[in-house]
Amino acid sequence: MGPKFVEKEIIEESYAAIERLRERLCGAHPYYFIETYGCQMNEHDSEKLAGMLEAIGYRRTDDRTKADFILFNTCCIREHAEKRTFGNVGFIKEIKAQNPALITAVCGCMMQQKEVAKRLAARFPFVDMIFGTNELHIFPQLLEKVMDGGRIFEIKDIEGEIAEGLPIKRSEGFSTFVNIMYGCNNFCSYCIVPYVRGRERSRRAEDIIDEVRCVVREGFTEVTLLGQNVNSYNDNGMRFPELLRRVNEVEGLKRLRFMTSHPKDLSHELVMAMAECDKVCEHIHLPVQSGSNRILKLMNRRYTREHYLELVRDLRENVKGVEITTDIIVGFPTETEEDLEDTLSLVLEVGFSAAYSFAYSVREGTKAAAMDGQIPEEVKKERLARLNAVIMSSVNGANDKYIGREGEILIEGRDLRGEPMMFGKLGSLKMVYVNGDESMIGKYYKVRITGTRFNSLVGEIIE
Ligand code: 5AD
Ligand code: SF4
Repeated sequence: MGPKFVEKEIIEESYAAIERLRERLCGAHPYYFIETYGCQMNEHDSEKLAGMLEAIGYRRTDDRTKADFILFNTCCIREHAEKRTFGNVGFIKEIKAQNPALITAVCGCMMQQKEVAKRLAARFPFVDMIFGTNELHIFPQLLEKVMDGGRIFEIKDIEGEIAEGLPIKRSEGFSTFVNIMYGCNNFCSYCIVPYVRGRERSRRAEDIIDEVRCVVREGFTEVTLLGQNVNSYNDNGMRFPELLRRVNEVEGLKRLRFMTSHPKDLSHELVMAMAECDKVCEHIHLPVQSGSNRILKLMNRRYTREHYLELVRDLRENVKGVEITTDIIVGFPTETEEDLEDTLSLVLEVGFSAAYSFAYSVREGTKAAAMDGQIPEEVKKERLARLNAVIMSSVNGANDKYIGREGEILIEGRDLRGEPMMFGKLGSLKMVYVNGDESMIGKYYKVRITGTRFNSLVGEIIE
C-alpha cells in the first residue's frame, strides 16, 4: 500500500485560510520570528511555515523583540535540545508582557511527545499554539483560530500523510533542500525519531523532480535531497538510485546531494549511481554510530563493523575523491572500554572528513532507555572527550592530501577572521578559502589547493 496524501480539498482550504488571514491583516505586514532546533528536516519544515506566513503577509525578522508572531520549531533527539527549548520559550514571557498582541507558537518533534507538550502548555500559559509534525499543512487554519481568540493544542498520532503544494520560503543562497521522504521505520534502539516522525513514506518521483526544476528556476544550483533514510526511498518500485539518476538529468542543476543514508540499506547500485551521475557530489553522510559489533547489535543497527568498512571500500573504489562523514554515539548502555576502543580504531581506520559525536542521551519510550547498564554521565563525558580528540587528529591529518589537487568550489561568502578571504565548498564538502571579492558569491570556480587554514583548505583560482 502506498502512502496517504493529504486530500486536495484540505490543501485548498489552507490556501483559502491564507487568503482570509491576508484580508484580516488589511494590508499590514507584521513580523514573524522562527527559531529552529535540530536537523535539516526541521529547517525545511520551518521554510514551509515561513512560506505560509509570508503568503499571509508576514515579514521575517531576526529580532524576536520586534516580532508579532514567534515560532519555536523544536527537536527532541537529545535531552539537551529539550532543555534549551524550555529555557528559550520561557524568555518570551517578557516580550509578551511588552506586546500583548504577540502570538507565540511551539511545534515540531518535541511536541509530538504528548506528555512533553502538555508539560509545556501547563508551564507557559502564554503560548497560544502547540502543534505537532503532522499539522504543518493546516497551520493557516490553526492560526485563524488563535486570531479568533482560541488556544491551540493539536497533535495527531496518525502515521503521517504527505502534503503537496504548500508555499515554501527557502533560505537565501544557492543551495536548498527538497524532501523525498518522511518518517523512519528503523527503530534504532536509542532513537526517538520513529516515534515522533511516523512511518516511512516516499513522495512521488514526479513531484520531487517538479520541485527540483522549480528551485532551479528560482536560481538555486545545489539541491540536497532529504529523508531520514533516503536509501529506503520507494515510489511504486522506483528506488533511490533511479531517483538520483532522474534528478541528475534536471537542466540547470549543478550539484546534487542527499542525506541521510543508513549503512544497512546502502547498495552497490547507489554507489554506482553516485559514481556515474555527474552532478552528484563526492560526499556521503553515513552514520556509523559505533565501531563495536556488540553495541551495533544492541542499537538495532543491523550491520556490522566489517560491513561498514566494506561499504567504505566500495565507495572509495568507485566514487572518485569521495569524502565520508558520520555520526557517532558514545556511552550507549553497557558500553565497555573495549567497545569504545573499537569505535576509536574505526574512526582512525576510515578517516572521516568530519564526524559528529554525541554522548548517549536517554529518550523515554525507546528500547535503550529501559536497558540495564546505563553509563554514568561523567563516564560518557570523558569518553566523548576521548572520541573528539581522535576525531580531531584524524580529520586534521586528512587535509594535507588535498594539497596540489584541483576541484570546483561554489563561493558562499567572505570570512572576516584573520585576513579576510572568500570561501566555498568542494563537492566533497571540504571548505576552501580563496582571495577575491563579493561579486564571486554564488558562482563556481575551478581551484588548485595550496595549503590548509582553520581545519579547512586554501586554494588559488585557476578558472
Ligand atoms: N542520544 C545521543 N545521540 C543520538 N542520536 C540519535 N539519538 C540519540 C540519542 N538518544 C544521534 C545519532 C544520529 C544523530 C542525528 O543523532 O548519531 O545519527
Ligand atoms: Fe533514528 Fe535510526 Fe531512523 Fe536514523 S535510522 S532516524 S537513527 S531510528
